[in-house]
Amino acid sequence: MSPLLSVRNLNVQINEQPILHRISLELAPGEVHVLLGPNGAGKSTLGNVIMGNPAYSVTDGEMLFNGMDLLPLSVDQRAQAGIFLSFQNPLEVPGISLFSFLKSAYDLTHNTHERLWTFRKQLSGTLQDLAMDESYLDRDLNVGFSGGEKKKAEILQMLTLNPKLAILDETDSGLDVDAVKAVSHGVARYMEDAEHTLLIITHSTRILESLHVDRVHILAEGHIVHEGDASLIDEINTHGFERYLSLQ
Ligand SMILES: Nc1ncnc2c1ncn2[C@@H]1O[C@H](COP(=O)(O)OP(=O)(O)OP(=O)(O)O)[C@@H](O)[C@H]1O
Ligand SMILES: [Mg+2]
Repeated sequence: MSPLLSVRNLNVQINEQPILHRISLELAPGEVHVLLGPNGAGKSTLGNVIMGNPAYSVTDGEMLFNGMDLLPLSVDQRAQAGIFLSFQNPLEVPGISLFSFLKSAYDLTHNTHERLWTFRKQLSGTLQDLAMDESYLDRDLNVGFSGGEKKKAEILQMLTLNPKLAILDETDSGLDVDAVKAVSHGVARYMEDAEHTLLIITHSTRILESLHVDRVHILAEGHIVHEGDASLIDEINTHGFERYLSLQ
């Protein structure tokens, strides 16, 4: 099957400081890939670069999405193409409600003007699945949300926007047992669509328990130092990253 996302020999820097070196990845539609690595390895950087965060410069290599060159596209254009990034540290945005944000993002990514009432009704089922009260919709985006509530709001966005590729950056960190269940259920529901594809960055494996993992990539000091199947997760949980740290 032709890849949905193809990253080839990507070099990335920020403020002239190289962070990622010769990164190559291929994700086929319907696959679940996991990106593991020590703190500071460059995992969030890779997520940001795929989403098009202009703070990072790609100095070499290419990124194709459905065969289309991603590099010239803005964040909005990448979102319209079907890419979604759930942030490790979701930003608080005073002055715009969660509802308005979701509505604008939905209309932009689906090139439509959904009616307010229809859209709100559409959201209620997803909110229930995530055990989120409807009142969150009327609060300013992430303002005063607890850590766990912010992560749930990210999954609400993913399930609402229905992207082809979702990148989840530590979406399961800081969640209580019930919240992990609700979020895992939401992620598993997202993967019920055979076209949906996931790149999960995580330090915990709880969110992976309800998913079939196709491929695991280990990133250390900006290099992909090892790759394998789902069995690599257990190996890392047992032995840590140490044996991979000098392999680049
Ligand atoms: N805006 C920035 N300015 C300066 N350095 C940065 C910036 N963004 C990332 N870096 C550096 O790039 C490296 C990789 O950071 P990144 O956030 O991608 O790591 P990570 O693998 O996601 O780590 P963690 O597991 O702790 O989330 C770090 O050394 C970080 O300090
Ligand atoms: Mg990170």
